Amino acid sequence: MPSETYLELQDISKTYASKTVLHKTSISINQGEFVCCLGPSGCGKSTMLNSISGIITPSSGKVLLQGKDITFLPPEKRKCGVVFQSYALFPNLTVAQNIAYGLRGKEWNKKNILNRVFELLTLMNLESYEKKYPSNLSGGEQQRVALARALAPRPSLLLLDEPLAALDAKIRMRLGEELRRLQQQLGITTIMVTHDQQEALDLANRIIVMNQGQVEQVGTPEEIYQSPKTKFVAQFVGNINFIIPPNSQNKKEIAIRYEDVRLNYLTELRLQEEGTFVARIEEIRYLGNTIRVRLLLQDHITEIYADCIRSNRDLYTLNNLVSVNLPRASWQSWE
Ligand SMILES: Nc1ncnc2c1ncn2[C@@H]1O[C@H](COP(=O)(O)OP(=O)(O)OP(=O)(O)O)[C@@H](O)[C@H]1O
Ligand SMILES: [Mg+2]
Repeated sequence: MPSETYLELQDISKTYASKTVLHKTSISINQGEFVCCLGPSGCGKSTMLNSISGIITPSSGKVLLQGKDITFLPPEKRKCGVVFQSYALFPNLTVAQNIAYGLRGKEWNKKNILNRVFELLTLMNLESYEKKYPSNLSGGEQQRVALARALAPRPSLLLLDEPLAALDAKIRMRLGEELRRLQQQLGITTIMVTHDQQEALDLANRIIVMNQGQVEQVGTPEEIYQSPKTKFVAQFVGNINFIIPPNSQNKKEIAIRYEDVRLNYLTELRLQEEGTFVARIEEIRYLGNTIRVRLLLQDHITEIYADCIRSNRDLYTLNNLVSVNLPRASWQSWE
């Protein structure tokens, strides 16, 4: 992965009336990276993306593209390809005409436009849709056209604002894979906004986790998942228990992921292991590939969730007493 800084946000803030929705956000993105910006609704993801594309102007701070200050450059001069959640295709134009829409200016004569549209129809497997109108396409197909349209002018930066959010789960996964393949093939620096953690973990080289107008953590999917820097990140990405272990001396809260909690048959020997407690199974939910078990420890206060694989099925019986092991190596805590 090349590590040259391509895009930089320096202390970007945005204030509407008296409400600040982006607080001094600084990030730097390398050439060719696929970065996902992840966070709950209203945390400022689109505001950040729109200040990169130029749709909004930040109240303070700078946007640098390859070291050049583009903070006040109009959107059409930034060479960003943008795709939004709603397909935003022109309904009265065919697929080919939609793709050709942004191809304007001296270098785009008729022949070049035809060639480029053909290239994109091929790249996106849209050949047979060339003459169709958007209303005759499925959501996933429309979004592929929107992507083709965004890529047509050979943008240097691809900005995607929840492009998969309106699609059903299967199509979403397939288009996500397609998107990543395409991104790698073209090597185009890409920033995608999503509030779907699975999508971000799956697709991104790096993830920016945002909360209330601020960046909480920037890291690889593995860093974000394995070593969340804040309680918010731990809670937002994956499923995690926050508990005070019953025998804890300092009564400090610790966190442990659902999948790190170990359930076993109750034996004296097992209970002698460090971090092992007796618990009652209070609820069992089948999640398909795993079983989610809710447990109550014998202090009758501490509740723990465990995600288990489906072997040992007779262990997972409602009201069973089991041993719960919380391996120390999986504990996390924050000040
Ligand atoms: N034009 C505007 N005027 C006033 N407030 C705005 C405007 N645009 C956005 N906001 C506010 O700024 C905050 C951040 O909005 P933003 O659209 O960036 O959030 P988001 O993270 O993209 O959320 P979502 O996941 O719902 O799309 C929100 O509280 C929103 O109400
Ligand atoms: Mg948004």
